[in-house]
Amino acid sequence: MRSYKTTMVDPVRLLPREDRDAALADAGYNVFNLDSADVFVDLLTDSGTGTMSNDQWAAMMQGDEAYAGGDSFADLEAAVSDVMGFENVVPAHQGRGAENVLYGALVSEGDTILNNAHFDTTRAHVVANGGDAVDCPVEAATDMDSDDPFKGDFSLDRARAVVDDVGAENVPVVVLTITNNSMAGQPVSVDNTRAVAEFADDIDATFVVDACRFAENAHFVQQREPEFADDSVAAIAREQLSYADACVMSGKKDGLVNIGGFVGIREGRDELHEQCRQRGILYEGFSTYGGMSGRDIAAFAVGLREAVDPPYVAERVEQVQRLCEALADRGVPVYQPAGGHAVYIDANRALDHIPRDQYPGQAFVCELYREGGVRGVELGRFAFPDTDRRDLVRLAVPRRMYGPDHVEHVADTAEAVCERADEISGLEIVEEPEMEELRHFSAELRPV
Ligand code: F0G
Repeated sequence: MRSYKTTMVDPVRLLPREDRDAALADAGYNVFNLDSADVFVDLLTDSGTGTMSNDQWAAMMQGDEAYAGGDSFADLEAAVSDVMGFENVVPAHQGRGAENVLYGALVSEGDTILNNAHFDTTRAHVVANGGDAVDCPVEAATDMDSDDPFKGDFSLDRARAVVDDVGAENVPVVVLTITNNSMAGQPVSVDNTRAVAEFADDIDATFVVDACRFAENAHFVQQREPEFADDSVAAIAREQLSYADACVMSGKKDGLVNIGGFVGIREGRDELHEQCRQRGILYEGFSTYGGMSGRDIAAFAVGLREAVDPPYVAERVEQVQRLCEALADRGVPVYQPAGGHAVYIDANRALDHIPRDQYPGQAFVCELYREGGVRGVELGRFAFPDTDRRDLVRLAVPRRMYGPDHVEHVADTAEAVCERADEISGLEIVEEPEMEELRHFSAELRPV
């Protein structure tokens, strides 16, 4: 049951079928090129797309726009300290801004960085600083049907093998991404977090948590890790983050805002804090706004506290689970169990007649739009050209935005696509940008 009522509406409409076909062709069979007004249910991302509360809007009216020392920043610092336990905050315009600040300070040419799985911007920042980004997922992560409760965990066996190979002195940073976005939004246990912290300590590396979805992760811990069954989401979040030396945060996820981010740095890590502060001033803006307006910061301070409110976070994660169940009930092949923010459809199973070099994932994304005006995103070979990962389609659910009827509509739409799978053809790329890593944002395709 939702723990809020809606007092503002944003109308959406489902275009007629022939208009959707035309819009998709105009968009070059790439849904990033669609106008949002032509989309009925938008599950492209959960990042910055959610609904703010009345308390957040009220806080915005009191945003302090001072260049230095604003009240809103003090409110954000207090919220980060209370909710996440970090005493030092270097603000940034969004998560990747924070990544630039932190990884630029920590990563040098020739370093190897370990992560349970790098999100694409994280990998890009490691690489941009001359590092090698190595993923260490557990085996269960790539098993779509395993019911392991913590498929997002970090594999210490893999990490040790890498360290044996490259030498501990070349691994200055170990990152844990909670929840694990690149591994179907799966959660990470506190037990695993402790073990990773110990491992990082053993090899003298800085332990960073990518905390974008820390509250959703804490909810899973409460539900699935017996030690924490009686603890609040807020207490679990603090416990899990307490092991990290630093965190990177995108407010666009569990900050419940449309823009914003920061690096959180543990008390006592003065040198790292100072380096980040200086890089923040250079790339993001002065240390008390960092690319955000005062009103953005004010809304962020309120949103962080709302993110660990038990009825909110329970309902948020359960809505994603309901979407996953509705799809599975209709025979749509989905990654199980559901992640915290998104459901992933396996296009290699749904469209098993389309060869992988004709992008079955992107074909499924296009058909979801043509069938029901639903926008998802391909996270398979089209988005990640040099990988052997499966062709998954991510349906990311914005926070506090859609209702049960939208969930039903999305499930019905995906079912209809699966039912006429035989009629669906693959795609070929007709135009792509120079940087292959970024091609899924802007490439144009056509049916084969
Ligand atoms: N880390 C993780 C785990 C993320 O999921 C994202 C963004 C970032 C860092 C970067 O944050 O967007 O504020 O710059 N993920 C979005 C997504 C874009 O759709 O999954 P950002």
